[in-house]
Amino acid sequence: MDDLHDKLLQPFSIGALRLDRRLLMAPMAGISRPAFRRSVRRYGAGLVFTEMISAQGIVHDNGHTLAYLACGRDEHPIGFQLFAAEPAALARAAHACLDAGADLIDLNMACPVRKVMKTGAGAALLATPALAVECLRAVVAQVCGAAPVTVKLRAGVRAGDEAGRLLAPRLVAAGAAAIAIHPRSADQLYRGVADHALTLALARELPVPVIASGDIGGAGADGRPDRAALAALLDGGVAAVMVARAALGRPWVFGELLEGEGPPSLDERRRALALFVDDARVELGPRAIGYLRRFWPRFRRSGVLSAGEVAELMAAGDLATIAALVRPDRG
Ligand SMILES: Cc1cc2nc3c(=O)[nH]c(=O)nc-3n(C[C@H](O)[C@H](O)[C@H](O)COP(=O)(O)O)c2cc1C
Repeated sequence: MDDLHDKLLQPFSIGALRLDRRLLMAPMAGISRPAFRRSVRRYGAGLVFTEMISAQGIVHDNGHTLAYLACGRDEHPIGFQLFAAEPAALARAAHACLDAGADLIDLNMACPVRKVMKTGAGAALLATPALAVECLRAVVAQVCGAAPVTVKLRAGVRAGDEAGRLLAPRLVAAGAAAIAIHPRSADQLYRGVADHALTLALARELPVPVIASGDIGGAGADGRPDRAALAALLDGGVAAVMVARAALGRPWVFGELLEGEGPPSLDERRRALALFVDDARVELGPRAIGYLRRFWPRFRRSGVLSAGEVAELMAAGDLATIAALVRPDRG
């Protein structure tokens, strides 16, 4: 335990929501299901998020979309993230999120995926700031103080454009209780490095908590998750940090960041994997087979599975085979 450990465990508030730590799990489409959220919480993630949910899908009662609202009683605090470019749809969807148990509602103004941006939503809202503010206002008015409303931004649409920095204070003036920023432009996707000079500038400028997303938990000079970069962000006034890709196949990265120690023993990592697989099975039934395929190569990278095991798991067509392959005492 050290200084960073204590800083990460310093409580802070987003609006009226009190959080007991500053290490959060970022939203990830196709990933942030309950099984995954539980797996990271076990290792110290504070606030977790749903993946981005289509407000239009909720409004139109799309069964597939409504399934994303599922949230266990043990999953709090949890933020629900919505995307759309229509204020009325966002407001109605926010209401459904509250009914489903949201402790916080986040609006996605960060997604760079073409299919989303061409509807005007996600990072496309950075280019239509008046509409972005209107979307936020509609949700804040609907939620009526029942939960804080936050926004997750990208730096801009194209490299060098300052849309995120210019929009952030307008969103705060319209009621955003915190701003999360992934400081890459949308057209950069995930290339290059996150420019946290922008995150630090926003933290200095804005009167609400600023949350950093981008490269958190990535390897530092010694090959371990980079705690120095994280400490520099908190020391610079950033309220909290979010981990995304570093937690894929490595839910214990939260513990590594908190404690500054290496990963847990292989036995414990295998138990964590088996638990995650079992949670996914209970949650998704046979659909867990496809869901889990996204994770096998990641668990290989974190040293839990061998190349041969990954090949077998990729080919496995039923859950009993998968459960046998990930049994902690196997091999
Ligand atoms: C597979 C994947 C899905 C993502 N889905 C979402 C999403 O639904 N909503 C969102 O705001 N960001 C999403 N992101 C972006 C992450 O939340 C995060 O901002 C980004 O990956 C940078 O953080 P990292 O370097 O820790 O991965 C996604 C990222 C990945 C890799």
